[in-house]
Amino acid sequence: LTMDLGLAGKVAVVTGGSVGIGLGVARALAREGAEVLLAARDGARAGEAARAIAAEFGTRAEAEACDVATAEGCAALVEAVRARWGGCDILVNNAGTGSNETILEAPDAKWQAYWDLHVMAAVRLARGLVPLMAPRGGGAILNNASICATQPLWYEPIYNVTKAALLMLSKTMSTEFIPLNIRVNTVSPGL
Ligand SMILES: NC(=O)c1ccc[n+]([C@@H]2O[C@H](COP(=O)([O-])OP(=O)(O)OC[C@H]3O[C@@H](n4cnc5c(N)ncnc54)[C@H](OP(=O)(O)O)[C@@H]3O)[C@@H](O)[C@H]2O)c1
Repeated sequence: LTMDLGLAGKVAVVTGGSVGIGLGVARALAREGAEVLLAARDGARAGEAARAIAAEFGTRAEAEACDVATAEGCAALVEAVRARWGGCDILVNNAGTGSNETILEAPDAKWQAYWDLHVMAAVRLARGLVPLMAPRGGGAILNNASICATQPLWYEPIYNVTKAALLMLSKTMSTEFIPLNIRVNTVSPGL
């Protein structure tokens, strides 16, 4: 028994799509016939993952080497989507990582780096990609937060706080983008 999820031919951008949960999401989208662009800093690893997806599912899959924790990296990703596809339908903000440093230890720069990775990447990519989604009639944004967004781990304060911010960003985005027919959801995996 199969169900058509209506994803065939959709263009999906998955940040952190080269390994782990992001790769799983990209493979699931490709299995449904979506075309995928995998973004990660290590372009060789992302390229390998994209080639494997294209071979396995017979759909278009490509990679873009970029650091989504920077404004330049987000701009490069948006430009890759615009130049290679002309638009997109789905954005999965998945790139993220644990912080593992206590409040008493962590310097300001680390707080800023995680703010940029877990929150500003989603803001900057929305600013760049929503204008490429809206003319196609809408789209979907999926933000990968964490159970830590609502239930903190004591040794991950920066992670907890920035993932909580991402959860609130998602809820806020979901209302702002209603007129554009862009749905915004968060998943909050456990360990
Ligand atoms: N695994 C868990 O137990 C768990 C639980 C709850 C939530 N999550 C969340 O789920 C997401 C994925 O977790 P995971 O365990 O699958 O991670 P992972 O295996 O460590 O993979 C992280 C991915 O993100 C990319 N990435 C990291 N920093 C990046 C940056 N600055 N710019 C672009 N890409 C970047 C990595 O590629 P490069 O290194 O090449 O950049 C890689 O593709 C994260 O947001 C994480 O917080 C995970």
